[in-house]
Amino acid sequence: MADDLSLEGKVALVTGAAQGIGREIASRMAQHGARVILTDVEPELGKEAAATMKGASYRDLDVTSETQWEKAIETLRDEHGRLDILVNNAGISPAANIEQTDLDLWRRVQAINVESVFLGCRTALPLMRESGDGGSIVNLSSIQGLRPAAPLAAYSASKAAVRALTKSVALHAAGDRIRCNSVHPGGVHTRMLDDFAALTGDTDAAITQMNAANPLGRVGQPLDIANGVLYLASDLSVWVTGLELVIDGGSTL
Ligand SMILES: NC(=O)c1ccc[n+]([C@@H]2O[C@H](COP(=O)([O-])OP(=O)(O)OC[C@H]3O[C@@H](n4cnc5c(N)ncnc54)[C@H](O)[C@@H]3O)[C@@H](O)[C@H]2O)c1
Repeated sequence: MADDLSLEGKVALVTGAAQGIGREIASRMAQHGARVILTDVEPELGKEAAATMKGASYRDLDVTSETQWEKAIETLRDEHGRLDILVNNAGISPAANIEQTDLDLWRRVQAINVESVFLGCRTALPLMRESGDGGSIVNLSSIQGLRPAAPLAAYSASKAAVRALTKSVALHAAGDRIRCNSVHPGGVHTRMLDDFAALTGDTDAAITQMNAANPLGRVGQPLDIANGVLYLASDLSVWVTGLELVIDGGSTL
């Protein structure tokens, strides 16, 4: 059994990896020896990020597109012959309560946050299975998937769906030693949190308030989440599947 976080010899694909949490996840996995493919819809940022990581590369992948998923996995098969780790991280969190959410917004949030995870898992599983070495899928949900928030109606619903889908995939793929876990971050300081805080009219004051409200005294940093994902991606968590890993400084307690 593995006794460290080494990802040597493993190939990993991360969605929404051009910035924020996804970028940090890619970076941590590259530091631990994985060959990481960063994907996003922001090629400039994505290429710049990949260039800072050993053995990493960038590829465009709009996670809502079935065709692009199929192409991405086909290219992986041709270039690397395997896929060991898939991190479904891409997401959006527009602030809107139920009455402010029109059908287009609802569908856009579900497409980027949930359909993406469905497409990613379904498309990747056959290649993950081919190596016979098992694998690890990590899906980014949120504490809002466990404790819905009124101003995040579509987002909360999408993240609850990610939680349930993860467990269904975990049961389906366990026979091939492919594990599937969800990660539920609390507020993490990225563009997403800044955008949310900006709605108050004073971003800095809102972040200060969020820091004070957290039991451990601060909002999260991308590294806090990336470290949890690294554990789930590595063989150290080889007997862990269907877990919902809450990383929130105690805010849901
Ligand atoms: N930041 C937080 O407080 C927080 C809290 C809980 C959960 N999360 C989750 O963590 C994940 C990452 O969040 P973040 O804070 O780093 O966000 P972010 O906005 O900083 O980064 C998200 C990335 O996803 C990409 N993306 C958006 N739509 C895409 C699409 N259709 N195809 C491919 N890529 C797309 C963006 O280009 C961006 O690079 C999301 O799933 C989010 O819901 C974040």
